[in-house]
Amino acid sequence: MKIRAATKADMAQIFQLEQAAFGAHCYPDFLFRQLLDLWPHYLLVAEHDRACNSSLAGFVVGGIGESRHQGWIMSLAVDEQVRGAGIGKALLQTLLDKLSADGCQQIRLTVHPDNRAAGLYHALGFIHESTEADYFGPNEPRHVLLRSA
Ligand SMILES: CC(C)(COP(=O)(O)OP(=O)(O)OC[C@H]1O[C@@H](n2cnc3c(N)ncnc32)[C@H](O)[C@@H]1OP(=O)(O)O)[C@@H](O)C(=O)NCCC(=O)NCCS
Repeated sequence: MKIRAATKADMAQIFQLEQAAFGAHCYPDFLFRQLLDLWPHYLLVAEHDRACNSSLAGFVVGGIGESRHQGWIMSLAVDEQVRGAGIGKALLQTLLDKLSADGCQQIRLTVHPDNRAAGLYHALGFIHESTEADYFGPNEPRHVLLRSA
């Protein structure tokens, strides 16, 4: 599996992965195009090892907060057919390393209280910081997790 920075040619497949993972609650396609302009080093894709309908196995995207010492993980998704094989962890670890190398001392993300992805985040050093019952609107609670350098 190869992890690399995304290019404009990856936009459609990234959005497909996002849609498949988050359904109606996904980011809009044009956001990814703008994230590519904002933080090209923090939009990473994992390529499938073998020939598949889609060449991307997953992606992760991060950004920088109000202070350049504060990073955010904005989205992470892996093709359902290849989950549980370490791809999500590898994507996330690569992005965490980049954000840390760029001076981010605190990195945050949000996760739904029922999402098993929390296990992956805890394994990579994230701890619970707070919970907002309506983070993304009514009935859209999220835990905010924090990883400190
Ligand atoms: C979360 C996600 C990116 C993990 O990707 P992955 O390649 O399957 O993850 P890895 O194989 O590297 O790590 C697996 C870990 O993820 C966690 N996990 C989350 N969802 C899981 C699932 N459906 N099945 C198995 N493990 C899952 C487990 O803690 C697991 O840890 P373990 O191996 O110690 O049991 C992937 O399940 C996914 O795309 N989910 C839908 C989108 C999503 O919820 N994104 C996160 C939003 S906050």
